[in-house]
Parts: sequence; C-alpha cells; structure tokens
Amino acid sequence: MREPEDLFSPSHYANVRKPVGEAFNLPPWCYTSKRFFTREIEQLFGKVWNFVGRAERIANVGDFFTCDVATVPLLIVRGADGTPRAFANTCRHRGCAVARGEGNARSFICPYHAWTYSTSGALLGAPTEMEGSTGFDMKDYGLIPVRLESWGGFMFVNLDSAASSLADYLGNLPDLLADYDCSNLALGRRVEFDVPCNWKFYVENLKDALHVTTVHRNSISRFAPVGKYWREVQKTNGNMASTFMGYPASAMLFPDDAGFPPIRTLDMSKAGTTAPLIFPNLYISCTVDGAWYIHVNPVAPDRIRLEQGALFPRESLDRPDRDEVLTHYFRRLDMTQAEDNEICALQHQGLSSPLSRQGRYSTKEALVHQTVNWILDRVLDAD
Ligand code: FES
Ligand SMILES: [Fe+2]
Repeated sequence: MREPEDLFSPSHYANVRKPVGEAFNLPPWCYTSKRFFTREIEQLFGKVWNFVGRAERIANVGDFFTCDVATVPLLIVRGADGTPRAFANTCRHRGCAVARGEGNARSFICPYHAWTYSTSGALLGAPTEMEGSTGFDMKDYGLIPVRLESWGGFMFVNLDSAASSLADYLGNLPDLLADYDCSNLALGRRVEFDVPCNWKFYVENLKDALHVTTVHRNSISRFAPVGKYWREVQKTNGNMASTFMGYPASAMLFPDDAGFPPIRTLDMSKAGTTAPLIFPNLYISCTVDGAWYIHVNPVAPDRIRLEQGALFPRESLDRPDRDEVLTHYFRRLDMTQAEDNEICALQHQGLSSPLSRQGRYSTKEALVHQTVNWILDRVLDAD
C-alpha cells in the first residue's frame, strides 16, 4: 500500500479505530514511512516520559552515560549534589557532542574547542577568546537541561518542558508493582541489540500472548503453556497495558534451573508475574525473584536499539554464588530474546512488501489493538 499525501488524516485509520473484533491492523506504511516515523518522534516521543536507564548506572557522583533517546542525543549524569540530571549532548559553542560513551567525570570538556561544563551543566570555561563577542555571558551558555524524573530506580526523561509529572504519567503503576520493591532491585546484566524492524512491531510483540506457543515453542512455552495459568488484564490510567499471570514460580528461569530466593516483600501465596508495557516502549516484567525490562528505542523506520536489563534484589546480587546462578537466568532470557528479535525482523521484512495489505486481529489480540490506538491518538491530525 502506497502512503497517501494526507498521511495523518484520521480517515485513513477509521478501520483501526473500531472495536478489536471489527478492526483492521495499522496500514503497512505506518511501519515503513519516513514521514510517519518523523511524526512519531516529534509528536509522541517528544512529549511523553521516555525511559532512559536504571539509576544504578550512575550510582556515584560524576558517573555519566550518553544515549540517544528516540534519536535525540542526551547526556545523563549524577551531579556533585547527588542529583541525576539529563542534558542535551550538544555544545553551546558550535554544537559538538560534549561527551561520549560512559564513565565518571568531574567536568565535561568539549572535544572540539574545549568549552568546559560542570556536572550540573554550567559553563565553566570558554577558552575560545570570547572577549570580542558582544553580550556573551558564560552563565547563559550552560548545557540545555532536559527533565529527568525517576520511579523505582527507573529514570525517565521528557523533552517537553510543559508535560505533567512522571507520577501523573505512570498513574497506579507504583501500586501494581509495590510488592516487588523495584527500588531494591539492581542490574545483574544489561545487554543491547540492533534489530532491523520498526519499533511498533517489537512493542506489539511484547503484549502478544498468542506467539508464545509458536515462536517460543522450544523455550518458555514448554513450561508455561498459554491458558494454563490465570492471566488478568489490570486496570491502569491508559498509558500502559498490564497483565498479571498466576504462574507461581520465576518466569525468568527454566523450571529445572536453580535461582535466587523470592523477593522478600512478596506474599508467595498470591505471587506471580506482573508485566506492564508502559507506552510507548518500556516493558517491565516483575516476577517472583526479580524482574527484567525491555526498552525498544527507535533509531530509524526500520531499526531499533533494544536494551534488555535483568534486575534482582540487591541481597541476591551480593551472594557468593551470584555469577553461577545468574547464568541460569541469562540462558532463559537470551533464548527468548533471540526468538523475538528474529520474528520481529521477519515481520518487518514481510510487511515491507509493496503487496502487503492491512490484516485483521483476533479478539485475543486486544492489547496489541489498544497499543496501536494509543499511538494513533498521539500521531494523527485532530478530526
Ligand atoms: S563546539 Fe564545543 S567547544 Fe567548540
Ligand atoms: Fe516473545
């Protein structure tokens, strides 16, 4: 299907907006069009709270990392006062990226002409003979700040200075996950993948329960067949799709593998896995002994940078057998991650065909339908 001139007119999407049993999938151009992607970056990612990293990545004063959040280069740093901050990673002299990679710094010296910034963003030195530059005042040329707020060790940024708070955005998420004590979790491992697919394919897949018996038939579906365990869709403020699955053991392990003890604050008599997909692109799966998250960072219409983090209670990570036990979790996570990465790339390949057409949903795909409609709510022109 060729993309129309009036790409964002609601008329092209009326059949996606219907109830799931009557609805069609998004038109294929939504996954391939550069114009559609640019609109998503500006109208969606430019206005919502975007996950940027776990707080323990910058545990100490001066710790920093750089990243592209939905294509926007940022610098995340813990300042001398202990506060985590985000800045545009762009020098106020002539725009060079001031920091690269990650590490610990007392200040940031731009590699181009050595303008120097403090960890709280102030311009400390401009050694480029600025005496003749009329009206130039160092205090007006600090790094451009970006809003950063945290919940449960998850740091989020918002590029829109007028947006409401992260707490508003997350609604009742802290209540849904309270028993898992997310602030006491820490990274056992963080890995990244480049996957050649549109970001929406991967996000849809994270709340697609049907593929577990096909794509994961040789991994998780062997021990947790869909339908065998109680699964409930939880009530939220609409900025996420969250489910609870009553599987009473760790969803992060194969059943015969030894793991860490359960999270101390969990009541094991009603424990299971709570898995919110926080729109647009952060999936967290909290299970009985830890959690994992998947962050689907859009890079281009046909490319994502995917981050997978495995989180465990700090006391579990302090155990002497930590490294050996962690290998069991990673075996399980690596297997399903590879399966999902492959299927999403294949879906992108298939749907990129000029002969592809809008498909139909099963009513079992209500959360996928909810996800794409949340996206359309933010991307389309007003009626
Ligand atoms: S661009 Fe950074 S010092 Fe010149
Ligand atoms: Fe999957």
